Order: sequence, then C-alpha cells, then structure tokens
Amino acid sequence: MKGIILAAGKGTRLYPITRPVCKPLLPVYDKPMIYYPLTVLMTAGIRDILVIVPPDDMQPFVDLLGDGSQLGVHIQYLEQKVQRGIADAFLIGADFIGDDSVCLALGDNIFYGPAFRRKLRQAMKNTEGATIFGYYVSDPRPFGVVEIDTNGKAISIEEKPTHPKSNYIVPGLYFYDNKVIDIARNLKPSKRGELEITSVNNAYLNYNMLSVVKLGEEFSWFDAGNADSLYTAAGQIRAAQRSGKMLGCPEETALRNGWITTQQLLELAKPMEKTNYGQYLYAIAGDLD
Ligand code: G1P
Repeated sequence: MKGIILAAGKGTRLYPITRPVCKPLLPVYDKPMIYYPLTVLMTAGIRDILVIVPPDDMQPFVDLLGDGSQLGVHIQYLEQKVQRGIADAFLIGADFIGDDSVCLALGDNIFYGPAFRRKLRQAMKNTEGATIFGYYVSDPRPFGVVEIDTNGKAISIEEKPTHPKSNYIVPGLYFYDNKVIDIARNLKPSKRGELEITSVNNAYLNYNMLSVVKLGEEFSWFDAGNADSLYTAAGQIRAAQRSGKMLGCPEETALRNGWITTQQLLELAKPMEKTNYGQYLYAIAGDLD
C-alpha cells in the first residue's frame, strides 16, 4: 500500500500566519503539523509516501523530511499546481500509486488514541473497496458527515451539510483500493469548484464497497485548519504528552517498526538534544538498550 499526505492547502484560514510558511509546517505544540499524518502512515506500516505540496513551496518540506531514508521510508514530493480539491491527490499521485492501493492522510488532521495501530491495520486488511472512519463531534456542519445504520454500515455521506443527518464526521484519513484513480478521473467539480473526497466516498458507497470504522470517545481527532483549532490542538497534545508518551513522533515509529536501529535514532536525536523532543528520543533509545 502507498501513502499520500495532502499538504498542499494554502492555509488561507490561517492568514497572515501562513503567508510565508505553509500550514503543514506550522508547529502543533512541539513539532511540525506534518509529523502527525506522517506518523499515522508509518504506524500503518506504509513506507512509500508521496507528499503533495503547494506550488513553489517544496524546498522547506525537503529540508524537513528529505527522502525519508533517515526514517527508513521513501518520501517523494509533487506539487498541486491548482487547488482542485482533495480527490485531485489521486490524479497527481496516479503514477506513484501505480496498481497499488493507497491511504490518503490530510496534512492538517491529527489523531491519537489507544490501539490505533490495530485500527489502522484492520482498515488495511480490507483490500477491496474503501475504508473511512467516523468520529462523533457536537457540530459536524463544517465537515464530511456520514450517516451510519445500526449495523455500522454507511447510509449517506454529505459534505458540509446545513442539516447534518448524524454527528459522525469523516476525518481526513482514507483507505482505497486501486479503483480510486478511475473514480477520481470521472469526478465533476462540486459547487465550490473542488474534486470532493466526499464524492469519492459516495462512489464507493454506491458500489456497496464502503466500510466505516467508528473511532470511539477514547480517540482524539482535530482538524488544525484555523487559529482556534490549531491552538486547541497544541494544548491537547501538550496535555496528552504529560503522560510521558510523545505523539506524532516518526522517529519512534521508525524504531518500533524496526526500520531504523537504536544507533540511527541516537544520530537523529543529537541535533535536537536541547529540546524535550530530542531528550525523548534519547530516552526511548535507552529503554531499548
Ligand atoms: C475536508 C473534507 C471533509 C473532511 C475534512 C476533515 O474538509 O472535505 O469531508 O471531513 O476535510 O478535516 P475541508 O478541509 O475542505 O474543510
């Protein structure tokens, strides 16, 4: 399975902050936002990753993540030249996906919760069709909303409905088989001029090939797309990390997956030794000694 991080949004809802720095590179507490979706893909066991970046803004991403070899993964970059919507990721990434299946993670979505690895691996086992998640929020109107029947099957999915049929939103993490490329090729832009991910999910729903996995109350999810949600996300990450567990730490995931050695981890920690982040890497390296 291939992984795509869509990190191409201009972040206009965060202006003026995002005029010089694009959104996925902004900090969420102690690390860049893109570390969170990157860690999710790596936790799922995905090693071939495409990062889709805004036009003329590739270099800072390369400066941060390089080719991924330091984390035991392969990272490539492509630009989204025109803001054509989330489903455009499958057109930009068609050659990269090839005849494989794909997991798409939005660059500004943050997840954490118990047994996340198991949930992700479960979603990946479904090799035919699509798997999305459902997450309960009090106001679902700004998101994709999925109506789920008593057996956990999706009945409808709507993008930013004025009158939502449920409180379950579809967060920005999606698993698809290879048909997603053809589905994306046949999409028509929505009223807001975008190739909507909700249209992709509706296509799978119509084929009766859409699974929804509920993320329960024990999970946390945020879309850090505006100043308030970014601030809230940072606070929640800080509070959650008080337990001693670092969230969104790709170096740790690489180590635990056996993709890098303790020695390599220590080398990554060295330039960061003045920070809690670096000290955490030293600590986990020590634990495994
Ligand atoms: C996008 C999707 C929406 C999804 C949300 C998650 O919304 O269109 O279905 O629930 O991401 O963050 P947007 O970023 O366009 O507001």
